Amino acid sequence: MFKKIAFLIVIATLVLAACQPAAPAATEPPAKKVWTYADMTIGFLQTGSEGGWRAANTASFKESAEQLGLNLKFYDSQNDLAKQVAGFQQFIADPEVDVIAISPLEVTGWEQVLKDAKAAGKPVILSDRRIDGNEDLYVTFVGADFVEEGRKAGTEMCKLLEGSEQKNVWELVGNVGSSPAIDRGKGFRETAEKCGIVVTNSQTGNWSIVEGKQVTEAWLKESKDVQGIFGQNDEMAFGAIEALKEAGLTPAVDVKIISVDATAGAFQAMLDGTLNVTVECNPLIAPQVYEAALAALNGESLPKWIPSIEGVFYSDDPTLKEIAAGRKY
Ligand code: AHR
Repeated sequence: MFKKIAFLIVIATLVLAACQPAAPAATEPPAKKVWTYADMTIGFLQTGSEGGWRAANTASFKESAEQLGLNLKFYDSQNDLAKQVAGFQQFIADPEVDVIAISPLEVTGWEQVLKDAKAAGKPVILSDRRIDGNEDLYVTFVGADFVEEGRKAGTEMCKLLEGSEQKNVWELVGNVGSSPAIDRGKGFRETAEKCGIVVTNSQTGNWSIVEGKQVTEAWLKESKDVQGIFGQNDEMAFGAIEALKEAGLTPAVDVKIISVDATAGAFQAMLDGTLNVTVECNPLIAPQVYEAALAALNGESLPKWIPSIEGVFYSDDPTLKEIAAGRKY
């Protein structure tokens, strides 16, 4: 009898166990998504199309996006800050956009949209230009040290004006409030003032040949007591060169001229003998921006600044022609 009851208990236990819903298998956390360029959509807010440097920078974004097979949403802010902020908000709201990159027109005014992007879980990469503060609200800055570019220009202007009795220099400044305009001016004064250079005129030419020329013409009407001109980009320096010629002065001889960017036009001006020195600012930074964007989506930590590689070029360099022939922009 006892054996029968024990047997029935065992059977009942086995039946009960079999009826018990299977203990849920230990749920593996879903495999972490590994982003690739193919499934990345990046929204890029460009400043506008203000010259040769910007054209090369835009081409770098469009061409390397194609090469890498990523989806690029390109926004042209037409050099209008309000449009750039609106475009930023658009990308935050756009469900297709995974990561946002921006070349900020000015250094301030970004806190709110950066906070909104963070709240929306969209990493932000600064490209080419930095902003003031808010470091915890963007992943990294890919671009140049504009202060150092200014320092290089100041050092070169000191060399060009060595032995000159007067060292009055005019400065053509980029768009007001932008990091290149602020930082290049700061760097230039840091080194230029060490050799007694005095910046006697300084005004924005908004990165353009036309405005660079107009501003220089206005100054020349007031005085011709100028020994050097610092163009914060190539285009403004080209404008100054035209104005000097029309005023009967010989650019790069009577008045030394230094620009920043080192675009093809600057090399041609140096080969023509109308520009003395150009300090490079590298526009081909899109691959580094995309690399940082992908790393950010994959949760990798990144340095706060990813610097671009840059040089300085001289009109009296015997290999200038070869160098110019090998340039990509
Ligand atoms: O931000 C870089 C600057 O922007 C370039 O030096 C200038 O040419 C452009 O407009």
